[in-house]
Amino acid sequence: MGYFIISKDEAIKLLENRSLTIAVIGQGKMGLPIDVVFLEAGYRVIGVDVNPETVQKINEGNPPIIGEPGVIEGIRKGLKEKKFECTLSLEKAVDESDVIIIIIPTLIDKYRNPELQPVIKLINSIGAYMKPGKLIVIESTVPPLTTEQIVKKQLEQISSLKAGKDFGLGFAPERTYSGRAIEDIRDNYPKIVGGVDPRSTERIALLYETIAKKGVIQMSSSTAAEAVKIFKGIYRDVNIALANEFAKISEKIGVNVHEVIKAANSEPFSHIHRPGAGVGGHCIPVYPQFLINIADQFGISAALTKKGREINLSMPYHVVNRTIIALNKVNKNLKGSKITLLGLAYRGNVKEYRYSPTFDVIKGLKEYEAKIVLHDPLYKEEELREIIDIKFEEDLKKAIHNSDCIVILTDHSHYKELDISFFDEQANNPYAIIDTRHIFGHINERENDKRVIVGIGE
Ligand SMILES: NC(=O)c1ccc[n+]([C@@H]2O[C@H](COP(=O)([O-])OP(=O)(O)OC[C@H]3O[C@@H](n4cnc5c(N)ncnc54)[C@H](O)[C@@H]3O)[C@@H](O)[C@H]2O)c1
Repeated sequence: MGYFIISKDEAIKLLENRSLTIAVIGQGKMGLPIDVVFLEAGYRVIGVDVNPETVQKINEGNPPIIGEPGVIEGIRKGLKEKKFECTLSLEKAVDESDVIIIIIPTLIDKYRNPELQPVIKLINSIGAYMKPGKLIVIESTVPPLTTEQIVKKQLEQISSLKAGKDFGLGFAPERTYSGRAIEDIRDNYPKIVGGVDPRSTERIALLYETIAKKGVIQMSSSTAAEAVKIFKGIYRDVNIALANEFAKISEKIGVNVHEVIKAANSEPFSHIHRPGAGVGGHCIPVYPQFLINIADQFGISAALTKKGREINLSMPYHVVNRTIIALNKVNKNLKGSKITLLGLAYRGNVKEYRYSPTFDVIKGLKEYEAKIVLHDPLYKEEELREIIDIKFEEDLKKAIHNSDCIVILTDHSHYKELDISFFDEQANNPYAIIDTRHIFGHINERENDKRVIVGIGE
């Protein structure tokens, strides 16, 4: 058959009849929602993962994912209707599918260089099993030029087939927000697609037009599509850095940065983001490094991108300084004080701690010999044993009991719903609150005989 090598009319017929099998390589936070959207549209889907436990759980109808509405139900429905299966066998998936979507993690190493080896290894394996007619779509975020210069070259070399003639290849970034992935993929944004040749772009576009309600934006190349994802991510990182810079200055000139940003954003051209303890997750802190690395290769300094990273990476230490200031106001020192950190997750209500600023806040506080206790409603102590070397307390009341300072690092709904009197009753009065997420912004009385509230930029 060969979706890529048949005529356009034949390809459209296959799509209309949903007679294509889609392999989704990587069954994580993003891979599973992609499975579900293609299943909902009527396709047969094969999920592939390297983790046997993940594959087993998915096949049992219990995918290891929380906080993504619709995923569990969608996977169970697919299994029941025998339209979906998950496998460890890449060979089987490549053999039985027409389209192969790659959505495995792309991170940075300890020197902050892009870690592309897992993608390259996977591509080499796919190349070994490739047959003419297949379409390969990279959805994992990669540095610009990766699809054209690395993936295409490797695939052609290993498979002895030619991209654009024997198989299709392109990039179509995953543009979703954790917690609403299915909705974002299906309803909220047009899908960006860019092939390594016009036919690849066309075939990827035809496929995604069948799942994305807002349609498809066809880019002129895979590199342009890669740049969309990276540029947008960096825009957010630099924008947050700017908000953080404004916050530090606001603290000195005696204005409240939140009040100022809100007023500034009443103009349609102002979209200043929120300041905070830094930037986490495996997207926004990672993508600037992809660009910095590629710019370096071309002898260009991505100066603004670098500065943005530098500012955001400094914020956890700024939080430590704010903690010292706040403790001074209640006549206490960091050394020996009980400091309760609320939130390990990098973002409210998202169970994800990769690159969370909380790690650097812990590092900074440890230098002052503070007694640190961490709480996060999304985690159990056993899940973090290998991750952190400070006390983790599952019970919030116990975590803040007798605390000298409570540092709010993540705006989980669980915290936002609390009344400040709960803290007043449990903490070691007078105590301090460092509200890096502005959840107590509505409280006008910032200092009283029980406590002082200190924020970022106010
Ligand atoms: N999570 C997000 O909010 C988000 C948003 C947009 C884009 N992305 C991008 O999506 C990609 C995947 O992210 P994620 O959040 O789904 O990651 P994840 O860590 O949740 O899941 C990745 C899955 O891939 C599996 N895997 C790793 N190597 C594999 C291989 N060689 N073959 C098969 N399976 C393999 C892992 O076992 C894991 O189950 C990343 O490039 C990320 O940048 C993520």
